Amino acid sequence: MADTHHSSETPEGYDAHSAPIMGPFVAELLDAVDLGPGDSVLDLACGTGFVAHAAAPLVGPTGRVFGADIDEGMIRVARDRHPRLYPDIEFTAAPADRLPYEAAVFDAVVCQQGAQFFPDLTVALTETARVTRPEGRFAATVWAPVERQPYFLAERRALAEYGGPDAVRHFAKAFTSTAEGLTTALRAAGYRGIAHREVTFGITLPPLDTYAQDHLSALWGSMIKEAGGAEALTRAARLVRDELAAHTTADSTATLPFTAILVTATR
Ligand SMILES: C[S@@+](CC[C@H](N)C(=O)[O-])C[C@H]1O[C@@H](n2cnc3c(N)ncnc32)[C@H](O)[C@@H]1O
Repeated sequence: MADTHHSSETPEGYDAHSAPIMGPFVAELLDAVDLGPGDSVLDLACGTGFVAHAAAPLVGPTGRVFGADIDEGMIRVARDRHPRLYPDIEFTAAPADRLPYEAAVFDAVVCQQGAQFFPDLTVALTETARVTRPEGRFAATVWAPVERQPYFLAERRALAEYGGPDAVRHFAKAFTSTAEGLTTALRAAGYRGIAHREVTFGITLPPLDTYAQDHLSALWGSMIKEAGGAEALTRAARLVRDELAAHTTADSTATLPFTAILVTATR
């Protein structure tokens, strides 16, 4: 697994087990760029395509949807699970700082939980500005501080105890972006009208009996096993469940707050 970008054990695992957490934020991100019929939109760091898939019906048969991600496995799954709707979505493996598109082709660029993994945020945003038409819209979400998010906090404790240094570092990266950092980089990249706000959802997770392990395993499974053997994964999942016991109902589900910072700007 490349250390420079967020990846997952398997893109299929990411797709299945990140969906409950990522899904609720998709509509909010797309609302922020106000997509309409005929728009051309890029989902940057698209992963398995949660945002791109939801954008397709908004831009309709006369619009275009593109997805770019550095991870070829993610792109493969994005293509496989792409419903055959109009418009067809074109998924391409590409890094954020070298996008394979002509200048000024997009009406909007969106990026869900990807910006924190770019090696140089200003370089990446300068590239998104290049491919966006004048007056085009940009919106991105990054996670708010981990301390305010009980599920992630429980995972951080589990990884600190059982994950080994790679998993700890990998996890921490997801929480490294701030509204200030994004604003500065957007300004340097030539955007204007930059604004940010927080978006919080109370998300009811699947029963933690299985979900705690599934999510850890999908994102950091091999790192955890490498650090502590197969037992470490079971113990880490138990720690997550124990940490969240006060929030968990008899059927093992928990409704927990997740908060993202939503940053918007105009080209
Ligand atoms: C947490 S996932 C988010 C994926 C997707 N946006 C979603 O909503 O599920 C972060 C994604 O950023 C991608 N990524 C990391 N560094 C990247 C880069 N430099 N250029 C493009 N994509 C990158 C990873 O491969 C991964 O798919």
